Amino acid sequence: MSSFKDLRIVDNFYQTSLFFPMPTVLISTLTEDGKTTIGPYSLVQPYYVAGKEYYAMLLNARNSSNTAQNLLRNGKCAINFVTDDRKTFKEVVRLGWPGDTPEEKMKDCFFTFEKGIAEGEDRPMVVTEAFQVIECTWVRELDGADKDLPGQLEGYEPPYHDFNGITSKFGATFILKIDKILMKEKYYNAILNGVRAKDFPHVPVDYGYRDSKNFWYAKFRRALPELLPIRATTVESVKYAANRIDDKIKFTDEACAKLVNVPRIFLPTALKGCVAWARENNVELITAEHMDEINDKRSKEKKGNKSK
Ligand SMILES: Cc1cc2nc3c(=O)[nH]c(=O)nc-3n(C[C@H](O)[C@H](O)[C@H](O)COP(=O)(O)O)c2cc1C
Repeated sequence: MSSFKDLRIVDNFYQTSLFFPMPTVLISTLTEDGKTTIGPYSLVQPYYVAGKEYYAMLLNARNSSNTAQNLLRNGKCAINFVTDDRKTFKEVVRLGWPGDTPEEKMKDCFFTFEKGIAEGEDRPMVVTEAFQVIECTWVRELDGADKDLPGQLEGYEPPYHDFNGITSKFGATFILKIDKILMKEKYYNAILNGVRAKDFPHVPVDYGYRDSKNFWYAKFRRALPELLPIRATTVESVKYAANRIDDKIKFTDEACAKLVNVPRIFLPTALKGCVAWARENNVELITAEHMDEINDKRSKEKKGNKSK
């Protein structure tokens, strides 16, 4: 006997049949006459996170929404992350009423707007009150979606794409290349200098679940640290792996000792990185000092990437 009940799966299952924690964002796009408009979205998540030529986000949207129609036409958007105070969330929910035109929504809009930092004139503005913003470009060439056009507000006829562009009569999915990440100074400094519990922005959690009367969300309370598990391997096992990576370049025991905290699954990649550095620097025996130099170089590169 299961300790669970079997709940039926229906359309919009994340809203009707689950408590599904999600972010709350306002997506800004450009209308046909070049004005910025915003719509609230939660079905937004990182998609390509590493190992590709670019990073990408994923958005699921009703294909007749202003956001989807504007993306089909102009391909640019900004994902604005808002904080959790009630006034903000009330306005977010107001902006989510389906069918309102951009003029109707933006007439008395509570938010203010400013230019983003990504290149190009044909971009929507970003929300000044957001604590972070991701400026994006829709990758319309994926899945043959470049033939999808705006203008069909009563639903699109098949054939449908599997994962990009118009994916069903009323649905659209957008793979959005990340052009720029914009961060408010307070959080920028925290990320660069080390984040403490008090440095976390107060983000709302959209529970997914809604009924005919309410959207439900939770306010931020406080960030709690949870120590990472320390599962150190032995110097012997690092030595064993290290001395098989290259026939010429070797590691001292002290150098190996610096790698005992690296999870086993990442050890070959870490060792290969050290060997590549040694080759570049004509080193045949990697010492603890060399390891410090390599780590130093890596953390500088990381900081460089973050501040770009
Ligand atoms: C908190 C919140 C989250 C929402 N998330 C989504 C979503 O992820 N996808 C979607 O299609 N609609 C979502 N909606 C509904 C849209 O906001 C609604 O369709 C709205 O009309 C879109 O605005 P737009 O037409 O200006 O793009 C959400 C609404 C709210 C209030």
